[in-house]
Amino acid sequence: MSSDFKSILTENRLFEPSAEFKSKARISSMEDYQRLHAESLNDPDTFWTREASELTWQQPWTKVLDWQPPFAKWFVDAKLNVSENCVDRHVAAGKGDKPAILWEGEPGDTRTISYAELQTEVATFAAVLLNHGIKAGDRVIIYMPMVPEAAIAMLATARIGAVHSVIFGGFSSESIKDRLLDSGATAVITADGGYRRGKVVPLKDNVDTALKNAPHVTTVIVLKRTGQNIAMQEGRDAWWHDETAKVTEGAPANGFDSEHPLFILYTSGSTGKPKGILHTSGGYLTGTYVSSKYIFDLREDDVYWCTADVGWITGHSYIVFGPLSNGATILMYEGAPDTPHQGRFWEIVEKYKVSILYTAPTAIRAFIKWGDDHVDKFDLSSLRLLGSVGEPINPEAWMWYHHKIGGGRCPIVDTWWQTETGSILITPLPGVTPTKPGTATLPFFGVDAAILDEDGKEVGPNEGGKLVIRKPWPSMLRTLYGDNDRYKEVYWSTYENIYLAGDSARRDDDGYFWIMGRIDDVLNVSGHRLGTAEVESALVSHESVAEAAVVGRPDELKGQAVVAFVTVKGGVDPTPELAAALKKHVANVIGAIARPDDIRFAAGLPKTRSGKIMRRLLKEICAGGVIKGDTTTLEDLNVIASLQASGKDED
Ligand code: PRX
Repeated sequence: MSSDFKSILTENRLFEPSAEFKSKARISSMEDYQRLHAESLNDPDTFWTREASELTWQQPWTKVLDWQPPFAKWFVDAKLNVSENCVDRHVAAGKGDKPAILWEGEPGDTRTISYAELQTEVATFAAVLLNHGIKAGDRVIIYMPMVPEAAIAMLATARIGAVHSVIFGGFSSESIKDRLLDSGATAVITADGGYRRGKVVPLKDNVDTALKNAPHVTTVIVLKRTGQNIAMQEGRDAWWHDETAKVTEGAPANGFDSEHPLFILYTSGSTGKPKGILHTSGGYLTGTYVSSKYIFDLREDDVYWCTADVGWITGHSYIVFGPLSNGATILMYEGAPDTPHQGRFWEIVEKYKVSILYTAPTAIRAFIKWGDDHVDKFDLSSLRLLGSVGEPINPEAWMWYHHKIGGGRCPIVDTWWQTETGSILITPLPGVTPTKPGTATLPFFGVDAAILDEDGKEVGPNEGGKLVIRKPWPSMLRTLYGDNDRYKEVYWSTYENIYLAGDSARRDDDGYFWIMGRIDDVLNVSGHRLGTAEVESALVSHESVAEAAVVGRPDELKGQAVVAFVTVKGGVDPTPELAAALKKHVANVIGAIARPDDIRFAAGLPKTRSGKIMRRLLKEICAGGVIKGDTTTLEDLNVIASLQASGKDED
């Protein structure tokens, strides 16, 4: 294997779940985990029939799985309504008064929405969508701040069988336009604005700019959140409150086929064009329901807080569909962790007595940097379980999370999964698995994970290789929207009938999985996926840029920072002002998360004889390292020297 697959992490500290946690946990012994895991792989029909039967189905399935690789159908012929499962069934079970959503706005405004109220809101907004002619199968873009209406909009589209595509509120109008065109969406649900770090994010203005190039959008529904002036286009745009006020009867929760599309979520791949990951109804809901139940060990009285934004898969699966299908009380927070002060998260934990906290390593590293004083001011004794997601958690961050936030008593579930997988695939079970800082440990039920070498052979302990999943699982993506060929090519062409995750990993002597990083040209910046090709095409769309190559370099806070090597067009001066302008340009084209940390101008980029940019070399250059390895295929060796001398620009 290539040297990229060597891991420098060795970690032998082992943390057992406390006797107290174990005594109450759903699954509390390794034998039970192993027995259920074996059943889920050897007799998936029995396992998934038992689990899925806890949900409400309007028509039963005739077959659990129809697998025509690489296309899966789960719960064949069954009918269900996803919103009914997340809302109505809890009201029907007498839990109408239970809080479904506890919400805290960034400015400090709050709301509590019970399951009965959520049912009314979802059914009402679903009726609004129907009134606007939106029907099952139509695509609807949701571009909203972290307000309860974002979840309501998702559940309402699901209720009528429309397919939502949520776009993270930090993305630019250009990104909205691309997704609008690819999905063929005819409606957009947005807000006038949202609050972020005390400023207003102009969501509706961004939508207006995107819509200049998307005349097929006929409906825009706008929630009033910030109250700033916005343009409303007669005949196309309508206010959420006006439209809901017109509704006299909520929309029913009719059943849809188990394989009916539920949502498309765009994520980065190794080309410039984001991939539209398609998830369907029955399998996705079952996967998120079962994983939330066992991995977060959800209890009736838990207050569960996942700090992700609904614009990412984590927000879809573990703010909305997983916890709500379990009837949990979820907390939603609109704003930034450091607004108005750096203890805001801990203030919220204390105020709402949060018992389960699910956040990202990048946030944990920021908290460490901000200092323990912000944590010490608050009472975190309500916490009983902690989760981590998005990137490998470095052991120091894990230890701080364990001691400082978890008081040494809370199990940490480090959960590995992807937009494509729909739900968590590798994770500890909190009442069972002894954890080690930095590893997501063992496969969840139904997951046949392995690490293969280039020839498709499983590697031995501590050897690196490619992480794969060998059997289909209920919440797996079904395809890339409108592009079956790319779906096959990206995930299923490396090994026959085996899903390629795109990560490198190793297993230790205990069989624990250690994720080492991506094997493709995808960066992980603050837990968010970013394709190097996307940033490159944004850069070359600037008039001064001739060519660009983007690589990641390790970053203490963000995990990876974005470094762009740029050659300019003839007659253009590579000045610090230009570097600043290019950073701004990328943020405008994609969104602030893609803003390069460094722009390094170069006379030429190092290429192989066949013209491929040698990214490995660029990575080594920006890590400040000595150039190693074989460079004889370089087209122009002088290029390396000039790149190394080019230095970094100052911000
Ligand atoms: O590289 C892995 C990393 O995030 C990628 C998936 O990104 P995305 O689809 O945006 O989903 C993020 C949230 C599920 C993976 O291919 N990743 C995610 N979780 C972990 C992780 N790497 C290590 N440990 C994790 N717990």
